[in-house]
Amino acid sequence: MNFDLTAFRAEFAFFNQQPDWVYLDNAATMHKPAAVISAEAEFYQTFNANVHRGAHQLSQQATQKFEQARDTVAEYLNTRAREEIIWCSGATAALNQLAYGLMGTVLHPGDRVLISALEHHANIVPWQFHCEQLGVLLDVIPLDANHQLDVAEYQRLLALKPKVVSIAQVSNVLGHIQPVAVMVQQAKAAGAITIIDGAQGILLQQPDVQQLDCDFYVFSGHKVYGPTGIGVLYGKRPKLELLRPLLYGGEMIQQVSFSGTTLNQLPYRLEAGTPNIAGAIGLAAALRWLQPWDHLAIAQHKQQLLQQLHHGLQQLSGIELISQLQNNAGIIAFNIKGEHHSDVAALLNQQQIAVRAGTHCAMPLFAAIGKSGAVRMSLAAYNTPQDVARTLVAVRQVLEILS
Ligand SMILES: Cc1ncc(COP(=O)(O)O)c(C=O)c1O
Repeated sequence: MNFDLTAFRAEFAFFNQQPDWVYLDNAATMHKPAAVISAEAEFYQTFNANVHRGAHQLSQQATQKFEQARDTVAEYLNTRAREEIIWCSGATAALNQLAYGLMGTVLHPGDRVLISALEHHANIVPWQFHCEQLGVLLDVIPLDANHQLDVAEYQRLLALKPKVVSIAQVSNVLGHIQPVAVMVQQAKAAGAITIIDGAQGILLQQPDVQQLDCDFYVFSGHKVYGPTGIGVLYGKRPKLELLRPLLYGGEMIQQVSFSGTTLNQLPYRLEAGTPNIAGAIGLAAALRWLQPWDHLAIAQHKQQLLQQLHHGLQQLSGIELISQLQNNAGIIAFNIKGEHHSDVAALLNQQQIAVRAGTHCAMPLFAAIGKSGAVRMSLAAYNTPQDVARTLVAVRQVLEILS
């Protein structure tokens, strides 16, 4: 196994430009390697044009690169067909399309949807809103004492025969990895359509959607070294066919007249309007750039950083760790006893340690664990042992200041 951290980090201009910062807010968004920045710049500088509609060569070139980007994502996820990749602006947009698109088609009054207590708001609020409107029941898998999903309750809730089960692969607050492969099998056995929110899981390992066998998998480009404003809704073709489009307009139609409109085929039916062309090209560049690296070695490197950070924090008195080290994708949530998480983050910011504080778009999770919020440190492969060491010094300093 081989991971050249220096070479990997050198791909990110940010760390040259801002050598004094320790960036531990990767669960919010990641830095972009040169391959992504130059792919986007190349689009704007050399063949900027709209896709699918131009008679000119520039538009044809843009269309070709845009559709090649779809192929790259399809290959990365190991889909059965390229039409199973739908571009959208991110995981939030994808989950909104799913919640909206399944209402009235798959879901009818009295049906049930099952999510969990550790979901990001993007996998809660769309369901809540649409379920309430249609009279669909929303059930929630609770957490156990270790802040893991309560497996026994999952079984009990599956017995109520939900039509849809939608769960995060990795908690964006705690970093805990969920047993999604098993959960998908159990949900399928109960007859449910399965959705995986891969926003924090996409980097765990290269997802194989055929092996996972979920019906839908969603993620955001900017959490996998790609640009903001682009994301992916993967769906098995027959399941995508079930979705009522969220957006209507150009591109998604075949024929429009005032006597009636016919919709386009997949994937265009779910991609109304001008897409984020540069974003799609940039995301494909990110995946192509990422693929050849040794993913196992990267995972091992991240685990070492995680252990260094977790053990370092554990040794400091006054720290209350909320995340567990086991089965963790690289996120630590903690508090300093008696102090507000925002104050801690502000003091870390003064030392140029970038972390996030608050409820991290997961208020129900904090209600479940009885906390008002937490400081979150999220690691990426470009972080170094020196980053962690500096962070621990900074936390010690915060403890001194606050005492
Ligand atoms: C688990 C999870 N789901 C969904 C989202 C929403 O992603 P985006 O804001 O990129 O749409 C996030 C973002 O942090 C997340 O962590």
